[in-house]
Amino acid sequence: MNTAHLRLREATGAAHARVDALFGRFDLSRRDDYAGLLAAHAEALIPVEALLDRDGAQAITEDWPQRRRAGVIQVDLDALGIDMPESGSEEDVASTAAMAGMLYVLEGSRLGGRFLARSIPETWPRAYLGSQQPPHMWRELLVKLDALLYEPDTLETAVTAANQTFGRFEAAGAKWLAKVV
Ligand code: HEM
Repeated sequence: MNTAHLRLREATGAAHARVDALFGRFDLSRRDDYAGLLAAHAEALIPVEALLDRDGAQAITEDWPQRRRAGVIQVDLDALGIDMPESGSEEDVASTAAMAGMLYVLEGSRLGGRFLARSIPETWPRAYLGSQQPPHMWRELLVKLDALLYEPDTLETAVTAANQTFGRFEAAGAKWLAKVV
């Protein structure tokens, strides 16, 4: 594990444990809970992806457009009849280091998603949880983040942004869980 990856993983471990426990409380044999989980992910993911588009995540990883999942999550939301309010645009311009932290969280969240995809009935829409990518894309991203975050200050900026991004998922998860239980 490279230095940046090690630090990001260690410094967001507690946040990951919280979102894991939180999203584990959605009962994925119930369609309403599944819809709630997707809505929560959409609420957190869509504005972060929009910010990454606007502030130039493609300069960090040129395949950023292929990594985006706002489109696939929208397919599932439409199929399940969930109307999400339009999310406002983010005010602050993100630094490259902050975007690196966001990318770490969004791309890492796919790793757990593939386990969740196995728990839902086969007939349900699963464009988002089922959107797999070859494992080399995760490894390549980690190499790029390491090359970028070689100074302690920039690494800590990325860590802060990563924890804030986890915070968005946690807040959205808690909100949507309260609606479905
Ligand atoms: C029920 C929900 C979740 C489960 C069961 C879960 C499970 C997992 C598992 C098993 C891995 C390791 C996969 C591997 O190494 O191949 C992983 C990694 C990761 N997950 Fe989750 N996850 C969940 C939710 C999330 C969410 C909501 C996020 C972010 C918003 C997230 C972010 C990450 C990140 C960043 C990693 C990479 C850790 C590393 O640096 O190796 N996870 N998750």
